[in-house]
Amino acid sequence: MSSDSVPTLVTCGLPYANGPAHIGHLRTYVPADIFVRGLRKMGRDVLFLCGSDAHGTPIVVNAESQGLSPQELVNRYHQHFDSVFRGMNVIFDYFGSTDAPSNHIRTQEIVRSLMDGGHVYPQEIELAFCPKCQRFLPDRYVEGICPYCGVPSRGDECDQGCGRHLEPGEIKEAVCKVCGSRAEYRKQVHYFFRLSAFRDFLLEHLKSLGGTASARNYAAEWVRQELKDWCITRNMSWGVKFPGDDRLVVYVWVDAPIGYISFTEEWARAHGEDWERYWKAPSDIIHFIGGDIIYHHCIFWPAMLKGAGYTRPSAVVASGMLKVDEKKFSKSRGYVVWVKDDYLDQGLEPDYLRYYLASYTSHTKDVNFAWKIFQEKLNSELVGAFGNFLNRAITFSVKNFDGKVPKGDIDPEVQERIGAAVSDAISALHEYEFKKMADGIMSLADFANTYFQSREPWKLVRSDRQAAASAVRSCLQMAKALVILMQPIMPSKMEAAWQQLGLDGSANLALFSDAAVPMAQGQLLGVPKILFTKMEDSSVERLDGIFKSRIEAAAGREEKAAVKALISFDQFKAIQLRVGCVVEAEGIKGSSKLLRLVVDLGEERRQVVAGIAQAYPPQSLIGRQVVAVVNLEPAKLFGVESQAMLLAADVDGQAVLLRPDQEVPAGTMVR
Ligand code: MF3
Ligand code: ZN
Repeated sequence: MSSDSVPTLVTCGLPYANGPAHIGHLRTYVPADIFVRGLRKMGRDVLFLCGSDAHGTPIVVNAESQGLSPQELVNRYHQHFDSVFRGMNVIFDYFGSTDAPSNHIRTQEIVRSLMDGGHVYPQEIELAFCPKCQRFLPDRYVEGICPYCGVPSRGDECDQGCGRHLEPGEIKEAVCKVCGSRAEYRKQVHYFFRLSAFRDFLLEHLKSLGGTASARNYAAEWVRQELKDWCITRNMSWGVKFPGDDRLVVYVWVDAPIGYISFTEEWARAHGEDWERYWKAPSDIIHFIGGDIIYHHCIFWPAMLKGAGYTRPSAVVASGMLKVDEKKFSKSRGYVVWVKDDYLDQGLEPDYLRYYLASYTSHTKDVNFAWKIFQEKLNSELVGAFGNFLNRAITFSVKNFDGKVPKGDIDPEVQERIGAAVSDAISALHEYEFKKMADGIMSLADFANTYFQSREPWKLVRSDRQAAASAVRSCLQMAKALVILMQPIMPSKMEAAWQQLGLDGSANLALFSDAAVPMAQGQLLGVPKILFTKMEDSSVERLDGIFKSRIEAAAGREEKAAVKALISFDQFKAIQLRVGCVVEAEGIKGSSKLLRLVVDLGEERRQVVAGIAQAYPPQSLIGRQVVAVVNLEPAKLFGVESQAMLLAADVDGQAVLLRPDQEVPAGTMVR
């Protein structure tokens, strides 16, 4: 980190507003929040920003598949992330969106200035084009084979193989993700950022870049090996229009990091501040990111900033990955823990998970999450060591010294320990080593427990009240220091502890240097209360059960997706399907899932029992056209005979009825 005289900006990688927050996300956000709180405790003025990444093909593809507009999908997940972050005590000064007008404007300004500076050139390239969908296939619209390692790969990134970023047109044997057709390659003019010209700049930049060595080294390796120019335009309508040709938008990795700038502008506008202090003058810009987006933050981004005349980041802090139960994190396989559904909504405290993530291992290594480990850490470290000490110290003073800080001298050894713990915490933060910070605090807590135990104040109060007062005052001082040191990791819990110590102000605003400031003799203490509650085995089982059922559901989905045995055309023809019209609909006594329907099939009416009660109120079905299998053996359900079966899409167990694209006569055959 550079000197104190320049303003400090800390950012977190912008989550795609494309799906719910999982604990893998938190590996970036929680440590960044701890870091910011820590800097503020050193007296530094820090701005902390994040927001939604609103563009890119995954969002468009996902919105399409959910029948939403990209805007609707983005709004939904923007709200979600904003509230989950608050719920986890990750508090940004501003949480923006890359689709905000200010980001469109800033992005176009930067791209124009790159063009004016000669850093962008047009070039005709061959791109995957789907002959059936009649469209070019940017990024995630296409899958194929990585040209470098030969492994099946996505259009923009070889995620299963060598990990390379793939340029448009590079992917081999492209297949359209929308319709599954083999793509053709067609020519089109696109725009390229002359990244190759930034080689020397980048090597210099990386030499002095702060943050984790992992980020620096990984990026430097790429720069030394190959630095290809970078296609910055895409064939899409969702995104920031490319200033040189408004049929194209800029690649999401152009406008996303520019969000860091436009969010600074928005924050500055709202607070009467000057954004240029951060981006047009010497400043200390620190990006916290996941280890998978180092390339973008350490190569593309600083080159763009350099080319357009903006301040470059001074540090990139890249986290390791997250595993769940020792398995590679995977949403599709169910190895995931959702922050809202599986954690916050289960009534679990945000601070416990923050402590887990901070203290499990070094920031650049992989964290393994398991409920059993969660329980162990909570019960032994927080309840058994840290919480136990605070509670003993406060309770003892309240009972034996009239609820006040006793009059006695603080042991010089204790003050020394506190001083050392504070400087250890500060150096751990400067090294982005949050585990080291947590461990240092816990060893002060261990020392404090041992100190209390060995002084035996419960005996001393009777034999030598002065010595007891001194020991207890020393313990309270350690309690105060522990609370201040731990506050960046567990902000809510430490605020409660602050109250119990009867201190003025807040743990949030206290500085590290306050840790050694003696608590005044005679100061009133608050009411001692248990801070951390043990987690029972039954809770672990329950939470593990939720987790296991996710894995099972995922396995079930995979099975369904697996290629089923082929059937002959004759077998298919044997199934008779007809369009019908619902004329009666009512619930069935004793069943919450089934409805009894009467369906008009033209020449005849049939009674149908359908498992759609949870999805459709009976009245809403009258007059609706449906598709029915009419030659299925009749079956009795809840005593009611079903004489046909309706076709419906199964959306996670919820039925969505099929119907013809336009009304057709009842009884029309389906083939
Ligand atoms: N949305 C990207 C991801 O999740 C990160 C964007 S970070 C930014 O991988 F720098 F581009 F903003
Ligand atoms: Zn297609």
